[in-house]
This record gives sequence, C-alpha cells and structure tokens, in this order.
Amino acid sequence: MNFRSLLRERLTAALAGLAPEAELSSLAELVVPSQDPKFGDYQINCAMALGKSLKRPPREVAQELVNRLKVDDFCNPPEIAGPGFINLKLKDDYLVGLLAAASGDERLGIAPVARKKQYIVDYSAPNVAKPMHVGHIRSSVIGDSIYRTLKFQGHNVVGDNHIGDWGTQFGMIIYGFKHFRDDAAYRADPVAELSRLYRLVNQLVGYFEAKEELPKLRQKLEYATAALAAAKNVAPAGDKNADKKNAQALKKAESDVKSATEAVGEVEKKLAAIDGDAALSALAAKHSRIGAASLEETAKLHSGDEENLKLWREFMPPCLEALEETYRRLHVTFDETLGESFYHDRLAAVVEFYEQKGLARESDGALCIFLPGQDVPMLIRKKDGAFLYATTDLATIQYRMERWKPDAVLYVVDHRQSLHFEHLFAAAKLAGYEGCDFRHISFGTVLGKDGRPYKTRSGDTVGLKGLLDEAVERAATIVAENDERNPEGPQLSADERRRVAETVGIGALKYADLSQNRTSDYEFSYDKMLAMNGNTATYMQYAYARVRSIFRRGGVDAAALRAKNVSIVLGTPAERNLALGLLRCEEAIELSTADFRPNQLTTYLFELANYYSTFFEQCPVLKAETSELRDSRLMLCDLTARTIKLGLSLLGIDVVEQM
Ligand code: ARG
Repeated sequence: MNFRSLLRERLTAALAGLAPEAELSSLAELVVPSQDPKFGDYQINCAMALGKSLKRPPREVAQELVNRLKVDDFCNPPEIAGPGFINLKLKDDYLVGLLAAASGDERLGIAPVARKKQYIVDYSAPNVAKPMHVGHIRSSVIGDSIYRTLKFQGHNVVGDNHIGDWGTQFGMIIYGFKHFRDDAAYRADPVAELSRLYRLVNQLVGYFEAKEELPKLRQKLEYATAALAAAKNVAPAGDKNADKKNAQALKKAESDVKSATEAVGEVEKKLAAIDGDAALSALAAKHSRIGAASLEETAKLHSGDEENLKLWREFMPPCLEALEETYRRLHVTFDETLGESFYHDRLAAVVEFYEQKGLARESDGALCIFLPGQDVPMLIRKKDGAFLYATTDLATIQYRMERWKPDAVLYVVDHRQSLHFEHLFAAAKLAGYEGCDFRHISFGTVLGKDGRPYKTRSGDTVGLKGLLDEAVERAATIVAENDERNPEGPQLSADERRRVAETVGIGALKYADLSQNRTSDYEFSYDKMLAMNGNTATYMQYAYARVRSIFRRGGVDAAALRAKNVSIVLGTPAERNLALGLLRCEEAIELSTADFRPNQLTTYLFELANYYSTFFEQCPVLKAETSELRDSRLMLCDLTARTIKLGLSLLGIDVVEQM
C-alpha cells in the first residue's frame, strides 16, 4: 500500500472547491511522512500555503480541510497542530488487515501499476576488448536495479546492452594483432592477449600524440606563468570591489598554472614511459605511423575488408564470453545485446533521413545537425565519410522506436556524456519522437581515498574482476570470523562459507554503489562496504539471516505459520513502527522509480532493519508471554525477512540463510 498516494488522493478531493484550481496539484503534494511519531504517521502541510492564497488564518483553513477530509476508513480523527499542520495516524486495525493480506501474497500486497508502460533500459555497455572497469560497474548495477524494479512494478521492460563492439579500439587491436601478437599467449588466453595488444598500441599512439602536444602545453604553461606574475604585481586598488576582483583574478591565475603544470607533467610521464624503455622506444621508432595506421584499420573494418572482418569475427566470441562471466558473477542480465556493430548497416540510411528532412546540413565538409538552443552542432558524418558514436545512437533510437515503441528509454551512462545525450534527445525530438521520454540516468565517478578516480597502485584503472575477487576475499574473512564466534559453534562447511562469501562480497559491492545518490561521486572503500553495522548489504543480509535463525531455533515452519490465520498484535510502539515500516515498501519502490534512484530503496531498507533491530531488542519472540503473542511476533519477523529479501532482490542482491 502506498499510504502517501492514498492520502494525496483524499486530500485532492478535500481541496476541490476550496483551493484555486491551479494550485490543487502542488498543494496535494504536501503530504509527508511525519518525522516524529508524536505527530502521527503522516502530515498534511498545505494549510499554511492555502491560507496565504485564500487570505485566511491557516489554522482555520486546516480546520476546514479536516472537516472535508474523508479518511475515517483508515485513519484516526486528524489532529491540528502548531500553525496548521494536520497530523494523521493510521488505524491499527487497518494496518493489521494489510499485514495479513501482505503475508498471504507473493508480492507482499504490493499491487502492480495500473498503467503499464514500455521501457527500454540501456545499461552496462562496456567497450569490448578494453577491460571493463569500476565505472562500468555503476552502469551495470544501477541499470540492473532499475530494470528489476520496473519489472516488479509490472511494466514491460527491455534491458539492452549497447556494447561498444565496433569502435576505434578495434583498429588498434587489429594493428596490434598484425604486428605485435604473441601467438602462444593468444592461444592460451585470447582476451588477455587482445587486451595487452590494445594497451600497447594505445600507449604508442598516446606517445606520438603526447609528443605533438607537449610544445603546445609548455607554451600554455609559459603564458599561465607570465599571467600569474602579472597578477601578483597588481598594486592594491584601494577600492573594495576592485581588490576583490584582483584577488579573484590572482586565484584563477594560480589555478591555471597548477592545471597547466599538471598537464605538462602528465604528458612528460607518458613520454618518459616509452623513452626510458629500450624495447618500447625501438617499437615506437619502427611504428611512427601507428595512430593513422590504426585508424586505417578501423576504416577498413567498417568498409568490409575481408581480412579485418575475419579478425573481428574471431575476436568477438571470447571477448563476449569474458563479459558474460562477469555478468554471471554480478547476476546482471539483459534481454538484448545489440552492440554498435549491429547498427552499422543502418547508419547511411539514418544520415540520409536527417539530410532529407532538412535537419542535417554540411559544414566544413562534415554533416551536422543544428539543434535549437545548442551552440555546438551534433556531428553525424565526418569529413572523411566516417560515422560517429552519435550516428550509431541515432540509428539505435530509430530501431528501438520501430521495434518496441517505447514510452521511455533510460540511458544509464556516466555524467561525462551528458552533452552527448542532450544533443541526442534533441535530435530525436526533431525526428518526430516527441512522445517518448528519453532520459539520461547519469551517475558520478568512483573515487579512491585521494579523491581522484579510483586506480590501482600501478596507476591502471581497476579491472572489474580484481575488484570482485578482492571484495569476496574480504567477505570470506568476515564470514569465517562470524561463524567461529557463533555461541553454538561454527555452523558452516568450507563450501558453504565460500558460497556465503561470494554473496556477501558481491552484495556489498553492489549495495555500496546503489546506496549512493547516483549523481554524486563516491569514495570506494572495502571497509565501509563490508561493515556489519550501517547502511550496507552486509548489515541487511545479517538482519535477514538473524530472522531466519529465529525460525530455525524455534523449529517454526514459516509457511505453516502463514497458513494459520494469526492475528497480529501491535501492542508496543516497536511493533507498530515495524509494522508501518513493512507496509511502506510500496511507497519506497514508487519513490525509487519516480526519478530512477535505487538509493531510495536502500534508505528504506536501512530504516526497516533499524525498526526490526529495536523490535528485536524490546520484544521477546520465541519467549513471548503467550503463544498468540509469539505467533504475532513471528509473523512480523517473517514479513521482515520477506520484505528485506524482496527489497534486496530489486537491487540485484541475494540473501543467505546463515552467515
Ligand atoms: N560504450 C559506451 C562507453 O563505454 C557507453 C554506451 C552507452 N549507451 C549508448 N546508447 N550510448 O562509454
């Protein structure tokens, strides 16, 4: 049950004829859960605003609203407090009835949406043959959770992995394969060898780019240094405003020097890595055209060159299998994996479509879509005839619209691509797809302790596999310690411990990501994510296992208990808070899909686990005074376990019976 929407409906009815029509919906929004139980369960806070627009005292308006409000079927009589807050408390027998219904329902009483929509979720989308890194975990995990939640709500959802399987990295890999391959290594582990080749070619290409860039960057640093010296020389103006401006200019000059120095340093480091290595320098000397040559390999692949196509077809299966392995471990699935290569044959047509409609025109030899309100046009065909990432995305939209007629398409991609999506969506509107809700579900960067993008000690971005392994390894230590500490002696076999560690480790990693506000950057920390206390998967899984252990210890069969028609007693605040918490699951789910923020769900689960914790401390279950009370509390325990399990499943996280 979503109490909040129910109350909004009732409030809307009460406001009709009283509030100005234009303000109705914004006033009806002002129903919020109470911060403190002494103000009831929910509060209606619109009497103040309404009083203002009606020019009447808010308390009087609140009274009139209360007279009009029909909620006596599920609330105690409303109370007015302070300047005009209306406090509402749900009736206990109403809650008890809902709990009974939830207990008898697979979906815990959470109704599917009345209006089914067709969604497409575009997530994960790594670039094949480049190692998947920690940034891709966010897209995979957030996207998967959104996918699961929408599906649970009853929507039609297509999960599509738009993998980068056709990009310029293949030109590099093909070049590397033709010139630098180690046959034995390739036979032993093709993906590792391809990814070595990619890194090697990329490094060499980067070397020549750096060489070209260095003089420009040095000059920039020189200018910045001169500008800083000049800024330092400015005499005090004696006028407050002018001084402030000068101080700001000085600050800017300082930060310009700092970033220019960093840029030079980075490029010098790239150069030194090759110049300081005899073997690499020899390679560089021999392959001075490597950048252009790699691009040529890509162009050949795209124009259907037999040899390159054959190589591409050979590389793809092991690369896809390696991705699949990671997805299996993460429990991330897709309905479709239509990568960039799938759209290759559609690019010319989509470009022609935009051209014929007069939406795209040539500029400097390149074909561009000029978008209303955007300074920079969207490039869809380069001077040399090559198509771009954006062109593929336009073709993808056309294909998806024709095949699935979606109401909404969600792109779960990091924030650095926001301009790309802004352009893409504007172009889609121009093409006539106004009816579809295109959304960039943007997310921030995963940071290390130093506040910079998370890297390994060697400076590489961290590969996903190593990340998962380490999380599981650390979880194994925690699981073993816990098990050893069990008052009844260790309960888990070595095999069980390993399985539990996998679930706990992967769960911790996913939850840590999902519990962040997705738009912010967050700091990656194994210690934090695996903490037994706090807003972590480990804590939630532990809460679940604790509930399940009550049933084991008491020899209670949960299914039999549910069939028994137990009437739940809400005798103490702890029991009532837990009950209300359980029944708010639907509200949390709806909140999480309103703006596609899984952290709404983790916040809810954490609150629920805390209510359970208090309940567990204050209310004996197996040792309850009467058998009726024991059954009632067992029912609350069972519902708690099921709600946690459901909530975690929407996040793509499993539970364990014992840990
Ligand atoms: N492969 C891209 C990357 O790793 C992400 C693709 C996202 N999806 C899309 N339809 N553009 O940056």
